[in-house]
Amino acid sequence: MAVGDIKFLVLHGPNLNLLGTREKEIYGSITLDELNQIIYDEAKRLKVSVDCFQSNSEGDIINAIHNAPGQYRGIVINPASLTHYSVALRDALSSVDLPAIEVHLSNIYAREEFRHHSVIAPVVLGQISGLGKYSYLLALGALAAEGYWR
Ligand code: DQA
Repeated sequence: MAVGDIKFLVLHGPNLNLLGTREKEIYGSITLDELNQIIYDEAKRLKVSVDCFQSNSEGDIINAIHNAPGQYRGIVINPASLTHYSVALRDALSSVDLPAIEVHLSNIYAREEFRHHSVIAPVVLGQISGLGKYSYLLALGALAAEGYWR
């Protein structure tokens, strides 16, 4: 398979559609469309493909994970608030045989105590937190590196 045929799924969880207006002092002024464009540009540079998907519904995100094998070779996911409590999302990620990386725009360990715990972290390859858009770009670069493909 040629490098350009490798495709990854980027998932954005609840409330990330409000980027650009939501708590700008924490998340910055970048909109979701702008973030997705930066991710698409980075994918092009890495000679891989990506699809970006956002939902406020836990079930839609879980369904996207269930449907990922066969279409995608890995997942970058910002689970947003689901990070902190969704065992259903964790089980979905551990039920599919695909490498996934958890990302956060903000540093969840520097914020409220309830954000310090991720139920997702134990079932993903790794977690990148606090680097804004670079959290996504670094995760994509890691997935695109030979060795992480499934
Ligand atoms: C977030 C951090 C979460 O705690 C929060 O619920 C979010 C966004 C981040 O990207 O920094 O919605 O995942």
